[in-house]
Amino acid sequence: MKQLLQLSILLLASSTLLAQKIKIASPNGNQVLEFSLTEKGAPSYALAYKNKAVVAQSTMGFELKEGGNLLENFAIKAIDSSSNNTNWKPIWGEESSINNNYKEVRIGLQQKDKDARQILITFRIFNDGLGFKYDFPTQKNLFHFILADEHTQFNLVGEHRIWWLPGDYDTNEYPPRESDLSEVPNYKSKGDDEIFARTPITKPSVQTPLMLKRKTDNLYINIHEAGLRNYSAMNLFYKNNSKLESTLVPDAVGNMTYMVAPCNTPWRTIIVGEKATDMLASRTILNLNEPVDATVNTSFIKPMKYVGIWWGMHVGKNTWDYATSQVASQNGENQASKATHGATTANAKKHIDFAAANGFGGVLIEGWNTGWEDWFGKWKEDVFDFTTAYPDFDVAEVNRYAKSKGVTIVTHLETSGSITNFERYADTAFRQMVRFGSDACKTGYVGKIIPRGEHHDGQWMVKHYERMAKKTLDYNLMLVAHEPVRPTGLHRTYPNWMACEAARGNEFNAWSKGNEPFHETVLPFTRLMGGPMDYTPGIFKIKMSSYWPDSKNQVHTTLAKQLALYITIYSPVQMAADIIDNYAEKLDAFQFIKDVAVDWDKTVYLGAEPGDFVTIARKAKGTENWFVGSVTDENARAQIIDCSFLDKGKTYEATVYADGA
Ligand code: NOJ
Ligand code: CA
Repeated sequence: MKQLLQLSILLLASSTLLAQKIKIASPNGNQVLEFSLTEKGAPSYALAYKNKAVVAQSTMGFELKEGGNLLENFAIKAIDSSSNNTNWKPIWGEESSINNNYKEVRIGLQQKDKDARQILITFRIFNDGLGFKYDFPTQKNLFHFILADEHTQFNLVGEHRIWWLPGDYDTNEYPPRESDLSEVPNYKSKGDDEIFARTPITKPSVQTPLMLKRKTDNLYINIHEAGLRNYSAMNLFYKNNSKLESTLVPDAVGNMTYMVAPCNTPWRTIIVGEKATDMLASRTILNLNEPVDATVNTSFIKPMKYVGIWWGMHVGKNTWDYATSQVASQNGENQASKATHGATTANAKKHIDFAAANGFGGVLIEGWNTGWEDWFGKWKEDVFDFTTAYPDFDVAEVNRYAKSKGVTIVTHLETSGSITNFERYADTAFRQMVRFGSDACKTGYVGKIIPRGEHHDGQWMVKHYERMAKKTLDYNLMLVAHEPVRPTGLHRTYPNWMACEAARGNEFNAWSKGNEPFHETVLPFTRLMGGPMDYTPGIFKIKMSSYWPDSKNQVHTTLAKQLALYITIYSPVQMAADIIDNYAEKLDAFQFIKDVAVDWDKTVYLGAEPGDFVTIARKAKGTENWFVGSVTDENARAQIIDCSFLDKGKTYEATVYADGA
């Protein structure tokens, strides 16, 4: 439904009307967006929830590298509005149907100088929050241009508790912080140097998704972005204890983003609700993304659980390298005589047999291709060729054997951050996968990027990740990416891009002091707002002394928590991440991993509090089976599971997996 507001004509004619505010409410009226121009002609917005200000007047605009700015001196040129209320069916997801219900207003602005530059701001207001983006229409005086930065303000109202990661251009693998917003400038390391490649922003700043809770009235607010394409990721500068402002990731020569009109920014999103579970239930970020092209083949996309030749390397039992002594010494552990190459044909077949016997769809194999001896920690361009296997790994035979057992190999392609090299080989590598019958690949972006000076979260890399999503879609391959930019709902557009890591994964428990117990209660409110995470749960042998006798490290978990993560951390691909032999010791708990689904008809968020606990119920797609998962931090707490999500009059049998006292 599209309607051109007659108002726009009036606005053009009358300068007094120009000072007026444009107000638009969400379909249920709870969220109200107000747009106005400041006295200096700067575009500004404000957001209220149930008549309470959430974001106070905040200005919007851009600094250009050359030829003036797009910050002030604007007049409203045109306004039109529309609305939408439709349902769509994701190919996989947390529910089988998603409602996309919003009101939209588009405001055309033009600067009052000789260049008369134009921008268009689109606001979409949903029952659970707001999205807005900027368009740069085709015009004479704004064609090729470079952004020196984006200046979208978020002027919050009151004081907030926040769950956050420090601003960085290269990594989202920081341990989460919980503090007052006002404490951001007192940034303290939390073992941040355990992260392989990071470029912290020197001024106080935070990453998105940023989770906030207002202290006065317990309002929950989440700030992120949707549909990040051909643009740099956004961090937020800390301006003062209630004011944040966007800043973009620069490239090798310090430019933030290259634009060619017509073009647009990603959506900036603000989700607002009274309950923490409102954040988890929000589909606004997904809804703001473009649907998948209806003409492309998506029939090959299959959610799955997988095992892998993987954890053994992280705990020093196996090596990625064929020449085993090297990696052992790089780990700083005296394992040289014991660690063996993981990716052998025989070990792969053992994993395929295990996967087939236990109903897993995939086997991830890392360390199968040459190059590992030549890398680790070096900023080197030609490390891997992505096709040549080590002499003890028969890639054709392993794939043939997997196919014969109804399992797919998840082919690991570690780029080592050398994107020039990876892009040179990507088509050859994907064609080889297709030829041998491997349906899924896991890419990795460990290390500093080559071209040198580019960042993981800059426009150049954002374009690379999307190019790989598109390419794998064209080759009918599923994709999982580790260490990419944080997701922004692009899995709606590329449903073969099943999951990303893009946060501190379970792997940190193997070789660092480990993830704090509250970490997994924060992730759903931060990282997961943008999309599924390949967290790799299911570690049963939690004491690292099993592998390194002197180690005091452990996975900070209980056994039942490792199981609950399959429900509380949503992903259509879930790994049973432990060394497969370890599951034989706890077959009763392993039964849960065998049974749990990865694709859902319905999801009910039963209770949650960032940093404390998360309890979610999900109905497995096409069945009458429900799975309920609950995780807590280091504190015990009682949670009543309200089972009213079950059908009335039906009898259900419950199997309870719980820790000992
Ligand atoms: C980091 C990834 O997160 C992990 O899953 C992988 O095993 C290593 N890089 C090696 O590529
Ligand atoms: Ca990682």
